[in-house]
Amino acid sequence: MLIKSLTMIDFRKYELASMDFGAFTNILHGENGAGKTTILEAIHSLAYTRSFKTRLDADLSRHGQVGYQLKGVFTDHQENDHEVRLKVESARKKLVSVNSKNLTSRAQIIGRFPLVSLTPEDSELTFGSPEIRRLFFNKLLSQVDAVYLENLQTYARILKQRNALLHSYANDGTPIDRIQMSTLDDQRAKISAQLHEARSKHIAEFKKLLFAAYAELEDEKSLKMAFISNVRSTAGELEGLYRNAYQDSLAEDMRKGTTTRGPHRDLFTFYLNTKDLRKFGSQGEHKLVLVAIKFAEGRFLETFLGEPPVFLLDDLFAELDVKRSTMIVESLKGGHQIFITATDLADLRHHGLELEGDTLQIIDAGKMQANG
Ligand SMILES: Nc1ncnc2c1ncn2[C@@H]1O[C@H](COP(=O)(O)OP(=O)(O)O)[C@@H](O)[C@H]1O
Ligand SMILES: [Mg+2]
Repeated sequence: MLIKSLTMIDFRKYELASMDFGAFTNILHGENGAGKTTILEAIHSLAYTRSFKTRLDADLSRHGQVGYQLKGVFTDHQENDHEVRLKVESARKKLVSVNSKNLTSRAQIIGRFPLVSLTPEDSELTFGSPEIRRLFFNKLLSQVDAVYLENLQTYARILKQRNALLHSYANDGTPIDRIQMSTLDDQRAKISAQLHEARSKHIAEFKKLLFAAYAELEDEKSLKMAFISNVRSTAGELEGLYRNAYQDSLAEDMRKGTTTRGPHRDLFTFYLNTKDLRKFGSQGEHKLVLVAIKFAEGRFLETFLGEPPVFLLDDLFAELDVKRSTMIVESLKGGHQIFITATDLADLRHHGLELEGDTLQIIDAGKMQANG
């Protein structure tokens, strides 16, 4: 996949800007505040209908404006062009079209324009709460498995209904409709078992790619990863196990006013030399694991979608030594379109990026504005 061109209207600081991209390395150059990250956000918003920084379209609309528009032309590996348009008219109205065909759900676009983004916010992936890792893996798996995405959405709907019942019971004593609760939990058990199976299967594949990617960056430490469900899967048929677990936890859930067990509480944990990375890892160790996760993400998408993803690398070299940066740049250069932000071109050169040649394009983010 590659993106050939982008137009932004009233998107953050850009009133109107259009640009073309090169098929290989694109350097987004400019001082702080020039608008480099915004260009990456625009590309991400087109591919996934939302930014990696915020879910609030109001934040993305240029100050003083209600709404924004984006247009991008993507080309797949078979050289078919796809024009994606995103138009936000108000807080509630977002229209997305691919080749002039309006989409009716996000599911219709997820997985079609694969991107791997590495931004400063991503440090949360290894430093942050379990929720962040669940979101990461949900996004990744949704792109290669449409049933997984559908199940996630159904699960979220059931969970919301169930939590509403529990919440009213715990807060103002509204009696629980037992029949409704048991219907919800039967449905939930069925979906949970499917999510569980899909996670186990996909994570096993992901782990192989992750460990290989990490070993390329660091050969002295060993990285491990676990997918930990709060419902044991050692014996018996999964749906039955979930049904029992949900019956067993109902009393506790009623007391707490929320749903304590299920895939929405699954854990994805990284270990470096058998120690929990989140608790014991140094800054540098976190960054290397993060880069390995992103490499693995790219290879996972490429393997299961048959389409090489575009890499959006914001501030890639922060906290990376020159040796590692050079390795990363070398390994990405073959066959992927990549975007790298830079305030200082000399710094890129220092980190192993050659700035000459016809595979590289430098875009001056600060000069993209049509009206200066
Ligand atoms: N909704 C918005 N409307 C107008 N300007 C914005 C909006 N959101 C962010 N900005 C401005 O855009 C600039 C940040 O752009 P950004 O892409 O993060 O720059 P860079 O990555 O080059 O440092 C800042 O000057 C910020 O004030
Ligand atoms: Mg930035």
